[in-house]
Amino acid sequence: MTVLTGAEFFDQAPTHAAYQARREGGDAPNELMEQDAFDQVLGNVQGLNVLDLGCGDARYGRLLVDRGCRSYLGVDASGRMTQQAERALDGTCGRVIRSRIEDFALAPAAFDVVISRMTFHWLQDLHSLLDKIWHALLPAGKLVFSVEHPVLTCCDAGRVEGQRRTCWVVDDYFVGGPRTVDWLGAQVVKYHRSVEEYFQSLRAVGFRVDELREATPSAARFPDASELRRRQRVPLMLLLGASRPNVAQAQAEQVVAR
Ligand SMILES: C[S@@+](CC[C@H](N)C(=O)[O-])C[C@H]1O[C@@H](n2cnc3c(N)ncnc32)[C@H](O)[C@@H]1O
Repeated sequence: MTVLTGAEFFDQAPTHAAYQARREGGDAPNELMEQDAFDQVLGNVQGLNVLDLGCGDARYGRLLVDRGCRSYLGVDASGRMTQQAERALDGTCGRVIRSRIEDFALAPAAFDVVISRMTFHWLQDLHSLLDKIWHALLPAGKLVFSVEHPVLTCCDAGRVEGQRRTCWVVDDYFVGGPRTVDWLGAQVVKYHRSVEEYFQSLRAVGFRVDELREATPSAARFPDASELRRRQRVPLMLLLGASRPNVAQAQAEQVVAR
């Protein structure tokens, strides 16, 4: 079987359909857990220029437009996703561009906020990406992203395709790099990084790390107590919020550190 990149997986008809069916199934952790945490870290977007890397069908982009962001630009490599995104954003200030994130040139100091939900673990070169984002942000601008949690990306043993997972194995945690796994009827390659690597990579390009969340399940979202209990066993998502310090902030922090 051919091993697919993320861009390919979300663009092929059967895997795109399988993924969207899972998202619409009513029990997707993205909707039940990750989105609430993401909203909390992102905060108010009113009047802001937002860039969304790996925007998918832009259902979240549409929400941000409805919440009053000044502009919204979604970027995604999948033509099937960008077609859906165009429909979701039709008649709004939102726009979408079909491109691989790696190939997309970002204008300097162009955005107040860069977001990315559940996409960076599909990308090989995190450092170059973060550096590109840092330059695309205005001073004091924010980056908020979520990824599949490193305790999941490290090792796929224990997962049986098509069954509710009840066994998780953490192994090779400190061996960063590609992982080929079976997912929704295909073989895909994702990239594992430890929590420390995400955190330190942000700092290495000059970000200040402001927030770390793990999308803690909330009882209010899980009427079924056994499903809540299952979701309390391991974290599924990691979220980080970071900002590009403006000059005054950076100087003040240096004074405090001295
Ligand atoms: C798990 S989906 C998340 C979509 C959306 N952010 C959401 O949360 O609903 C990951 C998205 O990343 C996109 N993607 C994966 N690799 C990409 C790449 N190299 N460049 C651009 N988009 C990519 C996929 O096409 C897909 O739409």
